[in-house]
Amino acid sequence: MAIDTLPRVTRGGHLAYADLRDWIRHIDAMGQLKTVHGANVDEDIGQATDVLHHTPGSPAAIFENVAGYRPGFRVLVNSFNTHPRIAFTLGIPHDVPLAEMQEAWRKRLHAFQPVAPVEVSDGPVMANVMRGDDVNVLIFPAPKWHPMDGGRYLGTGSFDVTRDPDEGWVNCGTYRVMVHNEKQVGYYISPGKHGRIQRQKYFDRGEPCPVAMVIGSHPLMFLASCTEIPYGLSEFEWVGGIAGEPVKVIRGPITGLPFPADAEIVLEGFASPTERIKEGPFGEWTGYYASDTRPEPVLNVQAVYYRDDPIVLGAPPNKPPDEQARYRAFLRSALLRDDIEKAGVPDVQGAWCHEVGGSRLFLAVSIKQRYAGHARQAGHVAAMCHAGAYLGRYVVVVDEDIDPTNLEDVLWAMCTRSDPERSLDLIKRAWSGPLDPAIHPDEKGHNSRLIIDACRPFEWRDKFPPVSNLTPEQQKVARERWSWLIQ
Ligand SMILES: Cc1cc2nc3c(=O)[nH]c(=O)nc-3n(C[C@H](O)[C@H](O)[C@H](O)COP(=O)(O)O)c2cc1C
Repeated sequence: MAIDTLPRVTRGGHLAYADLRDWIRHIDAMGQLKTVHGANVDEDIGQATDVLHHTPGSPAAIFENVAGYRPGFRVLVNSFNTHPRIAFTLGIPHDVPLAEMQEAWRKRLHAFQPVAPVEVSDGPVMANVMRGDDVNVLIFPAPKWHPMDGGRYLGTGSFDVTRDPDEGWVNCGTYRVMVHNEKQVGYYISPGKHGRIQRQKYFDRGEPCPVAMVIGSHPLMFLASCTEIPYGLSEFEWVGGIAGEPVKVIRGPITGLPFPADAEIVLEGFASPTERIKEGPFGEWTGYYASDTRPEPVLNVQAVYYRDDPIVLGAPPNKPPDEQARYRAFLRSALLRDDIEKAGVPDVQGAWCHEVGGSRLFLAVSIKQRYAGHARQAGHVAAMCHAGAYLGRYVVVVDEDIDPTNLEDVLWAMCTRSDPERSLDLIKRAWSGPLDPAIHPDEKGHNSRLIIDACRPFEWRDKFPPVSNLTPEQQKVARERWSWLIQ
């Protein structure tokens, strides 16, 4: 089936696929899935994933018959590395230019209403159960994703379900999961993340934190879990609202936590408030092993549920721009623009969280300047709002004639319209953490932000030299007349 003949809406809600397996069938039909047999977890899968991540337009790949594991146990990688696959996953048109995809996604977000999950008594994930002494997470293929990783990571394209002990709401967050032994996995959550806030509330009372780890799930559940969904709103409700139908969840027999009935693998258990095991190093989204190895909390797994022939969704970070930089740039840029607008900044024309900075370290915002101070206001809000606050570094504000998604145009505006003496603002002691490669290992926690006002200076913008390039209309005419020269 050609990409433009794929259904956009075929089910009750807004999505053309039912679960991860149905999603794979569609992607295969698009001609965007490669199958690999016999690869190993020690080197092959990580190496192949690196190649796929660093090749724009590359297909998804599924590893079957992984060496040393049961033949049906599989690993899927590079699922969301292209804009059409991201758009297809989100249920928006996937056969249009990027700007139209982003606009369609923003419209969907604006029409969003939460839909509560529904509890069901059974589902495919309960097909196989291991409890107590039988628990063995080593049966699942967990790759060593990067050469210097301190272990094998089962959880990258995964999410952890937790419940706020005071407020009762359920959070789903993607945090890396390292396999320690048959019954223990370690998981690292950065300070300030919702899952970390919830976990700490249990630990502060000296209580174990109940967790259900979902390894492989409906693609939208995964994308929700690694996106800045507002504090207090459950990712289950968010996905229900975006998909147009409630997520079916099973109440975990051990923790009472909900997890998707169509999940591939679920680990259920408790994290002790005192037990710590060394976790890391791990190749992180900045492109470094920056947080090294530290004692981190551990999940003591009491039960494992998994579908027949389960699929581990692998989404390791690599040096950006990589797969996650691309899907997160798409998702976070829409949230960033909305956050800036919700803070009351008028005439925002666009915003983009650039892939080269892992969709966090380099943000561009374009505005139509209306008043003195407008550009600085947009820049400071972008640096500090929910979508932009964690581990950012540079925010560049540009005029409306600059496309914020075009890195070269943004840098050109920065080079030609800003002057360091007048154009820079520094924010100190901002939200960072152990993953920040530019902060000394003993001083991690805070970092600083540079706001670069690359707009024409407001007070003499009318005297700013005119741009020498052809206008978009003139370019169109020129292309029509002269494109034969470059064919
Ligand atoms: C593949 C992938 C792996 C991630 N690993 C981690 C991690 O190990 N620790 C962490 O704090 N955040 C990690 N993140 C980022 C969080 O998932 C993201 O910040 C999310 O919004 C956190 O959700 P929360 O605020 O609900 O806790 C990862 C994201 C992706 C896409």
